Amino acid sequence: MNTVKTVLELRAAVARARGEGKRIAFVPTMGNLHQGHVALVEKAGQRADFVVASIFVNPLQFGPNEDLAKYPRTLAADQEKLVGAGCHLLFHPEVEEMYPHGQDGQTRVSVPGVSEGLCGASRPGHFEGVATVVTKLFNMVQPDIAVFGEKDFQQLAVIRTLVRDLNMPVQIIGEPTVRAEDGLALSSRNGYLSAEQRAQAPALYRTLRQLAEAIRGGERDFAKLQESGKAELSAAGLRPDYLEVRESTALRPARDGDQQLVILAAAFLGNTRLIDNLAFEL
Ligand code: PAF
Repeated sequence: MNTVKTVLELRAAVARARGEGKRIAFVPTMGNLHQGHVALVEKAGQRADFVVASIFVNPLQFGPNEDLAKYPRTLAADQEKLVGAGCHLLFHPEVEEMYPHGQDGQTRVSVPGVSEGLCGASRPGHFEGVATVVTKLFNMVQPDIAVFGEKDFQQLAVIRTLVRDLNMPVQIIGEPTVRAEDGLALSSRNGYLSAEQRAQAPALYRTLRQLAEAIRGGERDFAKLQESGKAELSAAGLRPDYLEVRESTALRPARDGDQQLVILAAAFLGNTRLIDNLAFEL
């Protein structure tokens, strides 16, 4: 696997692969890779001939009080995992390479509708930062397909909408969340948890499963379910940020009669904010 740090080198390497008639897949990441990322890279390899990954901790998508400075940077271990997963090219730019004219005057991409509410409400500017960097990365790599995790369900909806609305010639593939044995969704942020918090964390997915069961069993008072889910999280020692039942394609609040649902939640354990979701069909 070749690692490049500049857009020029990236474009040259992708052009060579294209010249050989290869189909290009892209997996953007912020590094600190775990099995969930490995699954994305493996999926990319099944669907294309040449797999490009990026590792870039994008300052534009972090709020002023978030974990940008302490976000784990583990390049050597990440490179090893990428090689094992079958990645051909890693793009690992510095901030100055991605934002050579500074971040303040940078053109931004905003995706109304699906960016609003949920994480968009708790993290103002976050999805604009994500949409902007993903647009830039897509323009740099120009992949045929790009693979994202379903764990970031709202992010995936934002990216699908962005690609549709801006006519980007890239197919977006969502890959199911990889979980620990006790149900906790793998996340780079799990590494911030103390042993005690790690033991409490599976309550997030457990609560989502209980609510999904109740809905499958006929419960349609979504407001009541949301309140009882949050109470359940609090009782398990988590501090709920949001817990909402939504229609899973438009991401609007669920209504009786909807067939495709997703329950999305974010909760704090200490300073660590975990998110998870459970999508299902009735
Ligand atoms: O999901 C992530 O790791 C990031 O939000 C992404 C898509 C790489 C953009 O920085």
